[in-house]
Amino acid sequence: MKNIDSYTHLRGESLFVDDIMVRRDTLYGLVFDSPKAHGKIISVNYTKAETVKGVVKIFTYKDIKGENQIGGIIPDEPLWAEHEVHFQGMPIAFIVAKSEAIAKQARALIEIEIEELPVITTAREAKEKGSFINAPRSFNLGNTDKVFENCKHVFSGTVFSNGQEHLYLETQGTYAIPMENGNIKVISSTQGPTSVQKIVAQVLGVAMHKIEVDVTRLGGGFGGKEDQATPWAVMAAVAVQYLKKPVKLILNRHDDLRMTGKRHPYDSTFKIGLDKDLNILAYQVEFLQNSGAAADLSPAIAERTLFHATNSYYIPNVNSIVHSCKTNLPPNTAFRGFGGPQGMFVIESAIALAANNLGIDKRIIQEKNLLSENDEFPYGQIATKVEMKNSWHTALKHFNLEKLEKEVEEFNKENKRFKKGLSLMPVTFGISFTNTPMNHARALVHIYQDGSVGVSTGAVEMGQSVNTKMLQVAYETLGITPDKVKLETTNTTRVANTSPTAASATADLNGKAVLKACKALKKRLITVSSKMLSERKKDIKFEKNKVYLKGKKTNISWEKVVKQAMLDRVALTENAHYKTPIIHFNKTKEKGHPFAYHVYGTAITEVSLDCMRGTYEIDAVKIVHDFGKSMNLGIDIGQVEGALAQGIGWMTLEEIAYDKDGRLASNTLSSYKIPDVFSAAKKVAIIPLKTKGNKMAIKKSKAVGEPPLMYGIGAYFAIQRAVKAFNPKHKIKFHSPFTPEKVLMSLYEK
Ligand code: MTE
Ligand code: HPA
Ligand code: MOS
Repeated sequence: MKNIDSYTHLRGESLFVDDIMVRRDTLYGLVFDSPKAHGKIISVNYTKAETVKGVVKIFTYKDIKGENQIGGIIPDEPLWAEHEVHFQGMPIAFIVAKSEAIAKQARALIEIEIEELPVITTAREAKEKGSFINAPRSFNLGNTDKVFENCKHVFSGTVFSNGQEHLYLETQGTYAIPMENGNIKVISSTQGPTSVQKIVAQVLGVAMHKIEVDVTRLGGGFGGKEDQATPWAVMAAVAVQYLKKPVKLILNRHDDLRMTGKRHPYDSTFKIGLDKDLNILAYQVEFLQNSGAAADLSPAIAERTLFHATNSYYIPNVNSIVHSCKTNLPPNTAFRGFGGPQGMFVIESAIALAANNLGIDKRIIQEKNLLSENDEFPYGQIATKVEMKNSWHTALKHFNLEKLEKEVEEFNKENKRFKKGLSLMPVTFGISFTNTPMNHARALVHIYQDGSVGVSTGAVEMGQSVNTKMLQVAYETLGITPDKVKLETTNTTRVANTSPTAASATADLNGKAVLKACKALKKRLITVSSKMLSERKKDIKFEKNKVYLKGKKTNISWEKVVKQAMLDRVALTENAHYKTPIIHFNKTKEKGHPFAYHVYGTAITEVSLDCMRGTYEIDAVKIVHDFGKSMNLGIDIGQVEGALAQGIGWMTLEEIAYDKDGRLASNTLSSYKIPDVFSAAKKVAIIPLKTKGNKMAIKKSKAVGEPPLMYGIGAYFAIQRAVKAFNPKHKIKFHSPFTPEKVLMSLYEK
């Protein structure tokens, strides 16, 4: 089945926030933000701006009736700055005017005086100065101190991975509309409708039931709208509360790039110890997360870094710690992988360094230490139904790695200017919100009296095609045709108290709820049919809108059964709740069983390097991926392809740059390079791994949204191998992205 949005997407008819028909009295908002990264606000003069014709009101923290607080995990983030600013782009005021152009004109007239304070832009500097978001977290297994002494080989090093801009096609935006009695409807481009509802209520000082949040779809989120869609919705709502007129705010790209956080840059140090047979016996790692100026989701992201610090390997002695470092950058936030990629890049770097120093192929150490059944993760979960080695060896065999390696070797022998490099990247990614209480969802299913069906869930469609999957679950369970089912918008009055669409778990959580609701409805309709046919319930089935008796089609249709159910006064609506069973985690002991299951896979990356120019091409990425029993392979392969491109971009091209004053230098698409058709892998082959599937996944179809991003890490090491082939003296470094500029320096390093 195709993505159900493809028809309207292709015709340009799909509705995003900016496409919604506005009321005639709509006003337009624009954010006035801090021009300095750190300082005391001495004065702000709005007088000139206020006199611009068409400016209705400029809102500041003084206009807030509830709390000036939007922090989700830690209450450390004001909606609008009061007396201090903590990053360039920090919102200070909100200009509401008759048009966006007028608001822009006014913004330029605001005069601000700031007494500057020292600016911290890197995690390392923050740590030295003792600037943290919260206390560090540490996951441990075995005893590293003792074991390092007995290791034959011990290596240590440092790793840096830079941030990443989400660059969702649809920028952040909201449209807030006053309803009667002070109620407000908020249309928002958010992954977390409930967070928006909760924080709007908190800032406005009203009950949550007065706020209705509605989401049709997002033009991409990638984690950037899990928490950071909220401030814009709240600003518009504050204005609506005061002005009683609809207020629209769509960030232009420049404002969006400057004001929002990105993937967290990490500065890490590691020590890895191996025995003579290349078993990794001990691994010690310290992660310094550049959290930015407020917590946002940083503590949860730091936690996931620890969960994935050993990637796909079993290491019996692990000592890992993460510090969320407070800096004067926009609060960094969720981005596909949620801290997992940063953790995995470090262990892969540690293995690469060990292999380099021992003069062997990285693959040998990787292969030797892959996760097996019943291995213990540092967080206490015992690995079961492990497909790591299966995916690895399937990839080696299916893509004939030996031959590929020989080809690369021969090519490098014969060519001077061009060199090739090869790498393997295993991925093991845990599925579930690491915060156990978040793993639940609900679905509300109506069967209308004509037999058509409406499905509401807490899932937000953002291009990952979750709505298509929900539709598949509904029609297959009910035994009707897909055209009978409609996916409704995501709305807090229909499905309340939802977790955000995140953690790749949305289809699992919401799908299981849809399944449960549809099963309950079907059971009732089977009872109605059994009466109509005077036959036993267990002999009756629905398929493609027809009633089957003992496997034979009857002349009774789905519509007829629904009609009869109405006459019999049978409830045709069901609300189901699903919570992931089994999972738990103890944050004091840092042990438990946090994940419903893991997703596994292996990628082989081949690159070619132009050693005169430092430029490279990704020749091929060959992947064996564990989809479980995919319920929609077309969609799932699309997710792998998209995530891969995004992962390669993070590792190779995308270079976020803040200057020492905390100003975003890479603030345009000419100074921030994202993957395009030329930089994408020339060939991408994706082979589904044959497995029995996992019952914890919806219809045994495993979560797919984030895990494949980490295949992109393979590109870094493939390029590194090619550089090494040209310049054996090159001292390998772990500093991503590996831009052509850095490649060129490495090629000619003495
Ligand atoms: N795919 C598209 N096209 N657009 C997106 O914004 N977000 C990713 C992934 N795939 C995203 C996407 C992220 S960060 C997550 S967590 C998952 O989708 C969320 O959706 P799921 O739980 O339904 O997989
Ligand atoms: N993943 C993604 N988003 C989240 C998580 C998680 O584990 N926890 C809270 N938000
Ligand atoms: Mo995805 S980073 O969990 O929104």
